[in-house]
Amino acid sequence: MEQNAAIYQDLERILVTKEEIATKVKELGKRITDDYSGKEPVLVCILKGAALFFSDLIREIDLPLTTDFMAISSYGSATKTSGVVRVLKDLDRDILGKDVIIVEDIVDTGVTLNYLRSMLVHRGAASIRIAALLDKTARRIVPDLQVDYVCFDIPDAFVVGYGLDYDQKYRNLPDIGVLSPKIYGE
Ligand code: PRP
Repeated sequence: MEQNAAIYQDLERILVTKEEIATKVKELGKRITDDYSGKEPVLVCILKGAALFFSDLIREIDLPLTTDFMAISSYGSATKTSGVVRVLKDLDRDILGKDVIIVEDIVDTGVTLNYLRSMLVHRGAASIRIAALLDKTARRIVPDLQVDYVCFDIPDAFVVGYGLDYDQKYRNLPDIGVLSPKIYGE
């Protein structure tokens, strides 16, 4: 906490500690190792928020996996509900016939993942599962979205840290916290 004292002051409270994160990520890594035994899954990191979770998670998976990265952008909030997501950086490798695990930091409305899943199904992946660090189920507008692996169910609060940002800041906080409303002007 000491080295980040200034940015911790912008938090209303800490929601998930780095120790809790480490424990859950380790458990998830073990689960994926068991579930994909004998397979070589492709772990896909959705930039940027999932970068920290991704780097910790893949080190807890004891399989000959491969990695790839995708950057996407949702259109403005009004059009977001239409489910259109713009691909800023696509996967480098073909996923035809591959067992894909999409790694996300947070599922909110579910629109982004719903779109991504359909896109990767269309490209012929053998299987697709979703691993999310955080799930804000109260905000879901895609009711049938299946999130296969979730580390933490969280309330509908503005969370930052461990990869999650506000205006590109706070991604480097080791814990996950609720941002103080005074920072985003409420
Ligand atoms: C977040 C998150 C998902 C999306 C989830 O990304 O990483 O991609 O929002 O929202 P949804 O369920 O309502 O579609 P963000 O736009 O914050 O980008 P970032 O990962 O680069 O911070």
